[in-house]
Amino acid sequence: MKVFKDSETGMQIINEIDKLKTVLMDYRKTGKRIGLVPTMGYFHEGHLSLIDAIRGKVDIVVVSLFVNPTQFGPAEDLDRYPRDFKRDERLARERGADIIFYPGVKEMYPEPFFTYVVTDQLSEVLCGKSRPVHFRGVTTIVAKLFNIVQPDVAVFGRKDAQQLIIIQRMVNDLNFPVEVIVAPIVREPDGLAMSSRNVYLSEDERKQAPIIYAALQKAFETVQNGETNAEKIKQLIRQKIESAELARIEYIELIAERDLQPVDRVEPGSFVAVAVLFGKTRLIDNLAFFN
Ligand code: PAJ
Repeated sequence: MKVFKDSETGMQIINEIDKLKTVLMDYRKTGKRIGLVPTMGYFHEGHLSLIDAIRGKVDIVVVSLFVNPTQFGPAEDLDRYPRDFKRDERLARERGADIIFYPGVKEMYPEPFFTYVVTDQLSEVLCGKSRPVHFRGVTTIVAKLFNIVQPDVAVFGRKDAQQLIIIQRMVNDLNFPVEVIVAPIVREPDGLAMSSRNVYLSEDERKQAPIIYAALQKAFETVQNGETNAEKIKQLIRQKIESAELARIEYIELIAERDLQPVDRVEPGSFVAVAVLFGKTRLIDNLAFFN
């Protein structure tokens, strides 16, 4: 979808916090509503769909693009995380973003830096087990972005369900004056949830990766047919995923949205979340049984 902007300046690229604050202050003075789309770049349709989701709710769409070092563990892929700013810039512009906020690491984390936002418990389960500092990094950078941009609305993808729930908790617990909206998971035609990390997959791994969504869909069907037992549903998903030779399951959980704790039976507000390794690439996906 192409959006033609009526302003003459087109999309602005801003690297400095102070500059961004000044520009946004001017918009705010004229009553404009600000929307924030936090990202780490290397855009795919999942990212771009977030711009569409927020567009109608605000006047100015700010897309932040920052590969946030504090959410990567020491052995994780910070150094090889895919980046292509030129391409991202073009895609965001075509999609109708008004501002790209693209700060450097020193701009966001000037030395010394000691303060972190931590969401207890929720950050320790599921992905938090294998990525102990990850969500602390996410909540810290998102809190910083909220304070810098002071958006009326911010949008996050359902793809990262635990991240979304943690951010919603942070917003409620710390009274951030921002409305969080949620965008659905965007998938490849074969069902694989889009992710910047999909480029890490080898040809064979990429061929097998759609098994994850196929397994979730199968679980969905059995739930539609009356199955409510969490163990049985998880077992079904496990068997299906294990049929792919290259898949190594990290977790399959049926959990409640309110506290991310396991449930014994499917209930409104519960969903399945999975993490599966293909080689070194960790893929996550999830599916809710009720909307
Ligand atoms: P990143 O992985 O770049 O994702 C940015 C946003 O895009 C997140 O809200 C994520 O849920 C959403 N997203 C990614 N893939 C999606 C898909 N297939 N369908 C729908 N939405 C999708 O998530 C992060 O960056 C970072 O942790 C961040 C929140 C920016 C903090 O650094």
